[in-house]
Formats: sequence, structure tokens, C-alpha cells
Amino acid sequence: MNDSAKFSDFHLVHPQHYAARGYPHPVWTRLRRDDPVHWWDRTDGIPFWAITKHADIVTIGRDPERFLNGPRLVIDHEPEQPNLFPPTLIQIDPPKHTIYRKLINKRFTPGRLRPLHADIENIAKEIVDGLGRDSDEGRADFVEKVSAPLPIAVIAWLLGVPREDWNLLFDWTNRTIGATDPEFQTEGQDSRASALQAMTELFEYFTRLVAKKRAQPEDDLVSLFSQLEVDGEPIPEMDVLTFCLIIVVAGNETTRNATSGGMLAFIEHQDQLRKLQQNPGLMPSAVEEVVRWTSPLIHFGRTAAEDYELRGKRIKAGDALALFYPSANRDEEVFEDPFSFHVDRSPNNHVAFGVGEHYCLGAHVARLELEFAYKHLLPRIEEIELDGPVDRLHSALVGGVKRLPIHYKLKRVG
Ligand code: HEM
Repeated sequence: MNDSAKFSDFHLVHPQHYAARGYPHPVWTRLRRDDPVHWWDRTDGIPFWAITKHADIVTIGRDPERFLNGPRLVIDHEPEQPNLFPPTLIQIDPPKHTIYRKLINKRFTPGRLRPLHADIENIAKEIVDGLGRDSDEGRADFVEKVSAPLPIAVIAWLLGVPREDWNLLFDWTNRTIGATDPEFQTEGQDSRASALQAMTELFEYFTRLVAKKRAQPEDDLVSLFSQLEVDGEPIPEMDVLTFCLIIVVAGNETTRNATSGGMLAFIEHQDQLRKLQQNPGLMPSAVEEVVRWTSPLIHFGRTAAEDYELRGKRIKAGDALALFYPSANRDEEVFEDPFSFHVDRSPNNHVAFGVGEHYCLGAHVARLELEFAYKHLLPRIEEIELDGPVDRLHSALVGGVKRLPIHYKLKRVG
């Protein structure tokens, strides 16, 4: 038996294992306790160091010159193939990353987003109101009705994509991020071909939109990206397009799954739902707890640029590492009672949005989406329960909920 097999029959980067069994918290807990920097060699893809402790993810995230995001941000369970798409912001390293990030960073700060609150809140309200539109009591798939349309609508609006095209974005992102899930593959195509086709369509769409916004700039992200310059020179067209791409892809499935996972947490912890209903001021800490609890990003990879010793393990230059954020967010050394869901948890230093150089650019956007959706929905819930099994995405990247069937009774408004 090899070393990894001793830990479990759960394969840490195998999409099907996550679909069938959800997050492997017992495995991660054992790894944190017995071997937090663990050499995972039971794979058809490349072997990697499984990093499961909060402190180690912080150390690695803060050292972007030694632990690179390029060339491999996601660790595959299959033999590695060349990257399908040009690198986006999240796959490039300093010094280029630092320069590029500074170009757009300010646009995502809480202060810069404040004037947009009313619009984001309106989008969220319109979507959650859909649940009670026909009747106050009903059955629905929460993903389809709320958590899927919400992030795509907000992102499309921030980018400046016309409303009639929002569904196109939705479809393309499903087919790229969810490419490992057979449900999202184009008929007759494997995951790579399916993702490539979706990505090509997305690129073609944004090429046209960038040209339009360059001719007639507005106050949106595509207009901003299309005018970026470094040292007085416009950035290459491909870089403009990859800026669009990373916002569409990074902000979609992640927030969708935080929203669904949060709803599931409220269904399973109705005392916490009632507590929040009685204390609406707890919303910011509740949102933070939802993000910690769900930790929608399962892992991102790093590549060691040089030899390094961590907890007595010798990481060699060129070795791959996988940072398991959901494991860090249950680390007993950091969180009191980590396996309990508390809407008033404080402090809550989770790493669901990453750490350091690549810290999630859209963290505040995600928080606003969750806050506004829950603000308009949770106070209205009289009764809510699961109405069937939770259907999970085949992915070792995003811990996705494909379907969350609910049965609910809402308080009447107005
Ligand atoms: C709950 C929702 C979200 C979660 C859990 C999440 C998680 C993350 C994580 C863990 C990283 C760090 C990557 C690394 O260290 O390599 C990241 C980066 C990033 N996220 Fe998010 N994200 C969320 C929502 C969003 C949204 C809504 C947007 C866009 C509006 C967004 C845009 C980005 C971008 C552009 C990066 C790359 C930043 C860089 O490389 O400098 N994310 N995200």
C-alpha cells in the first residue's frame, strides 16, 4: 500500500469523488492531524503535496515568488495536458501579476463599489422575489431559481454585458468551469473539447464587445479593461480579453455555490436561521460564516520555484502543491468549534478567498451578493426543508451544488 492509500479511498483531486461524496472532511481532518504536508502520489496525474493546515496556506499564499500560480493552477487527476486557454490574471506571477493587478484593483474596493450597492441589491431582490412570485408556498430548485442567476446577473451587469446576453455567459461558464461534469459537456464531446468550444465562443463574444466599448466607453468593466495601459502603451488585446474572462469565470460558480451551500446550512441549522432572522445586524458575520462553512473553492495549485522545507518535508523545485482551502477553514488550531455553523462567529479568519498576492479580487462583490440575497429572502422564510437529494457537481476545483430542491413557505410581504 502506498502512503496516500493509507489515508483513504477518497481521491483528493478526482471530480467524481466530490460529486458522489461531497467534501472529504474526515480525510482532511486526519491529514491536518497526522501529516499536514502530505505527498499525494496515488494519482494518474502528477503527484503533489497536499497542504491542509491554515498556517501553511497563509505562508505559501504570502510567498508568490517562491510558490508560483503558473503554469499549473489546478491539479488534475489525469495525465497533464497543455493549458487550453491563455493565462489570465490568476495564472500569472510577479512582477507582471503585480503590475496587472494594480491596474484594476481599485475598481473592486468596498469604497468604489458603494455607489453600486443599490443596483446590486435590486438585481438580488428581483431574483429572490422570483421564489414567492406565484405563491408563498412552493417547491423549487434553489440553484436554478436563485443561486445560479444571481452571480451571473451581477457580473454581467458589472462588465457591461447587455441584458439579453446574460444567458449566454451563464451557459459558457457552466461549460468551462463545469467541464468535468458530464451534464455540462456538449453532446458528443469530451470535457476538453467542450470547454474549448465554450471558451472560443466567449472570446469571440468579448472581442466584439471590447471593440464596441472602446468606440463608446461607458462606466463598466469592459470599458475599463479596453483602455488599460502599461508605461503609456495599451496592453495587448489578448490581455484585455483574459481580464474579461477571469471576471466571468472566477465570479460565477464560486458565488453560486456559496449561496446554495449557505442555504443548505440554514436548512440544516434552523436555530441559526432563526437567530439571524431575530438579529438582522448579524448579517455581515453570517455571510462570512457562510463563506467559511461552504469554502466553495476546493483547491488551487502552486508550483515550487525553489527547494523549500515545510514542517520537516522537503519540497523540491518544480514540485506541485495543492492548497485545500476547505480544510484550512476547519483547522482546529484557528477556529473554535470548527465543525459548527455560527452566524455570529468572531473572529473568523477564514481563507476561502485565498491569501496574499492573488487574494480574491471579487471578495467584496461576492459578499454583497450574498448579503443582499439573504437580506431579502431569509426574513421571509417561515418554513423551509430539503425536498430531495442534493446533487453535486463533478469537480475537484469548485465544490458545486447542481441542484438544491427545497420546499418552502414564505411570509407574505406588503
Ligand atoms: C464566494 C465567492 C468566491 C470565492 C470563494 C472566491 C475564491 C477565490 C480564491 C480562493 C482566489 C485566490 C486564488 C489564488 O490564491 O491563487 C480568488 C481569486 C480571484 N477571484 Fe475570487 N472568489 C469568489 C468570488 C469572486 C467574484 C464574485 C469575482 C469577480 C467579481 C472573483 C474574482 C477573482 C479574481 C479576478 C481572482 C484572481 C485575483 C488575482 O490573481 O490577483 N471572485 N478567488
